[in-house]
Amino acid sequence: MGLLTHLSLLVTDLDHTLVGDDRSLEQLKQILDRYRQTYGTKIVYATGRSKTSYQELAHAKSLLAPDALIAAVGTEIYLNTATDADPEWVEQLGRNWHRDRIVAIASRFADLEPQPPAEQRPFKVSYYLSTSVVAAVIPQLQELLLHQGLAADIIYSGSRDLDILPSGGDKGQAVQFLRQRWQIDPIQTVVCGDSGNDISLFKYGQERGIIVGNAQSELRLWHELHPANYHYLAVAECADGILEGLKYFRFV
Ligand code: GLC
Ligand code: MG
Repeated sequence: MGLLTHLSLLVTDLDHTLVGDDRSLEQLKQILDRYRQTYGTKIVYATGRSKTSYQELAHAKSLLAPDALIAAVGTEIYLNTATDADPEWVEQLGRNWHRDRIVAIASRFADLEPQPPAEQRPFKVSYYLSTSVVAAVIPQLQELLLHQGLAADIIYSGSRDLDILPSGGDKGQAVQFLRQRWQIDPIQTVVCGDSGNDISLFKYGQERGIIVGNAQSELRLWHELHPANYHYLAVAECADGILEGLKYFRFV
């Protein structure tokens, strides 16, 4: 059977999605590289990491150079080889963002342990939070932020990480921004992820979605509650799961 249409844009999370199993990563890299040469497919990495931490991983795993990097959970977009984050995106996120006030409110919660300074970014405030208290802490934090008129999104990932971002600044919104800029149809776009900070990739448009077989409980639960025929839960893990999904959608 032939391909229905070609893939114009592949967006993938890195840790435990594209990266996690070296053998399947190598195989997928070759397929994507050939595919990109044939169809001009754009490749975007959407990661929670800072740009510096992404560069370390990209070097260690010899990742294909992306057409854009979405870093810091969506709050920074770097096009091609740009050194600075996209200024339009920065301007948009900065409009209603009061970082210091958010940090002050979060510091009232003893259970929120700040992540290392390198993970604190202009539009991302990050903590560690134990799963045992998450159900109590998140609603209270949300309530306090709301009460102070602070528009922010709280994202919990991997049963460990809690990020506070400007609302409208997550990975999913960053993908919508790039799709619009590049004029790419959602049905020719595939998004792939494994954890809580990837939920936004699946929730705004009708992009084809691949959830890898090793996905975390928060993403699995979200998928169960929001079933869609354009989302596919793979059996295989990491890059193998992406490949399984690309076959399911008949892109390869
Ligand atoms: C990455 C980032 C971390 C963030 C987590 C979840 O691990 O380094 O700061 O909290 O992703 O988004
Ligand atoms: Mg991940």
